[in-house]
Amino acid sequence: MHQQMKRPASRDGKASFEERFADEARFFKAWVENPKATGAVSPSGRFLARMMARYVDLHSHGPIIELGPGTGPVTVALLQKGIAPERLILVEFDPDFCQLLARRFPRCRIVQGDAYNLQKTLADVLQEPASAVVSSLPLLTRPDQERIELLRQCFELMQPQGRFVQFTYGMVSPIPRRLHPEKGFAFDAEASPPVLLNLPPARVWIYRQPGSPMVVRGPQPLIMKLKQRTGKVRKDILETADRFEDRIRRSTLQARQTIEVQRLRMTNEPAFRPALNLLRKFGEKKPRG
Ligand SMILES: C[S@@+](CC[C@H](N)C(=O)[O-])C[C@H]1O[C@@H](n2cnc3c(N)ncnc32)[C@H](O)[C@@H]1O
Repeated sequence: MHQQMKRPASRDGKASFEERFADEARFFKAWVENPKATGAVSPSGRFLARMMARYVDLHSHGPIIELGPGTGPVTVALLQKGIAPERLILVEFDPDFCQLLARRFPRCRIVQGDAYNLQKTLADVLQEPASAVVSSLPLLTRPDQERIELLRQCFELMQPQGRFVQFTYGMVSPIPRRLHPEKGFAFDAEASPPVLLNLPPARVWIYRQPGSPMVVRGPQPLIMKLKQRTGKVRKDILETADRFEDRIRRSTLQARQTIEVQRLRMTNEPAFRPALNLLRKFGEKKPRG
């Protein structure tokens, strides 16, 4: 079962306090009604949503599929990144969330349906291979095999270099990485740095077909940034010290020249001659004995 809705864009900016509060209430209600499918008691925070969006290549072509958009925080991050709303296909199970999404993102395509049956859900919707799938589905509430099957379907629907972006509150990949070779399905996976400013802290995983390059680089870990910053500060300090040393050397030379000029001037000045002669006389070594 799916339903499509398409209209002009309205919201890709910041939500007001009232809107956020209403979203929290809607989300909590959805969680009370269906905790396994909703998977969280409140919508993802903006830092996590931005981390998800960072792994989507802005310069790619083709549709981008978002799975489980809920009230739309990840959708907002994707739009803020510069993804055209017309490229987004939002697949959401909950009909109330679908209505809300249709009001909020009228230029995106909203499909009410089951993400775990994605090929069927998008059969009449997807006209060309997608460039990415961005998922907030609560994968850990599903058996391993269903998660693997979801990834397999997504690879089928994407371009060969397409990537599947997924967040998790867990410590390890939400899609089991060690697969039995007989299952004949392999993939590459890597994780983002942890998003500590999300409650609870989360991590984003990026899955690719084996050998497909990681075209979009995610954010660098804090330690790398600190190392780079320290290196730059050290270079600045050394450059400044070099400049000072050079300046001091030039000033000393100038001072010596000035003293020498003054000394010559004094030597040739008739008024100073008696005084200089006196000094010379006293300065001369007296013969011993
Ligand atoms: C953890 S919430 C994430 C919502 C939102 N993206 C966010 O980050 O706040 C999971 C969302 O996935 C939706 N969902 C769960 N199972 C689904 C399924 N089989 N197909 C489509 N959407 C599903 C839920 O209705 C919910 O909106």
